[in-house]
Amino acid sequence: MRHVGTKAVAQVAVRQPQPQPRDSLAFLRGWSRNPVAVGGPFASSPWTARRLARAVLAAAIPEGGPILELGAGTGPVTKALAAEGWPPERIVAVERDPELCRYLNDHLPGLRVVQGDALDLAALRARIQLQSVSAVLSGLPMRAIAPDAASRCYDAAFQFMPPGGSIIQYTYGFRPPVDPAGSPLALDAAYLGREWRNLPPMAIWRYRLARGRRAAR
Ligand SMILES: C[S@@+](CC[C@H](N)C(=O)[O-])C[C@H]1O[C@@H](n2cnc3c(N)ncnc32)[C@H](O)[C@@H]1O
Repeated sequence: MRHVGTKAVAQVAVRQPQPQPRDSLAFLRGWSRNPVAVGGPFASSPWTARRLARAVLAAAIPEGGPILELGAGTGPVTKALAAEGWPPERIVAVERDPELCRYLNDHLPGLRVVQGDALDLAALRARIQLQSVSAVLSGLPMRAIAPDAASRCYDAAFQFMPPGGSIIQYTYGFRPPVDPAGSPLALDAAYLGREWRNLPPMAIWRYRLARGRRAAR
């Protein structure tokens, strides 16, 4: 058993998932279709995926609902969450690329896949039809996204969570992927570390609203 806050999570699978050649090929194809949106030719490594999964589970609000994953790609972090005891049935994955959505549907039974633009999360919320989520995991390439669009996406993500909710964001860069100083939200950004066993090395950040405040609208 692992514990998320006070909630025990059954260890449904213990083996760390290893990437399959078909995962890498599907990801590479996605990158060739849209290099900017996908961010790089390689999906998150198993080490990164496990660190991200643990960071999300540590931040998840017990009884908050499913985990919302933005930009799931071929699902390495989704699988790592399952390996850590959080089953795909309790994850909603938003992905813009239709072929990657098909891939997720085919390879992660039980996962709810929503094809759409995560930057328009406020509008997607009607389609997702959930009251709340316990944490948000974002693989969106925030460094390539306009700051106001990134802030709108984060605003909608925080509205989706009970007060105290967290967004776990990963990035190849060295600076906060969404700059709190350039955002109208009262963002509190915490650097959780860098996973060097990733191509390129990946930094992990946790965002909260300062003092748990909801964003001014
Ligand atoms: C850096 S990759 C991360 C993929 C995967 N989560 C991983 O860790 O390997 C970014 C993913 O976000 C998706 N993406 C980019 N912009 C998006 C958007 N606006 N809405 C939904 N998905 C988006 C891309 O198609 C890609 O699958």
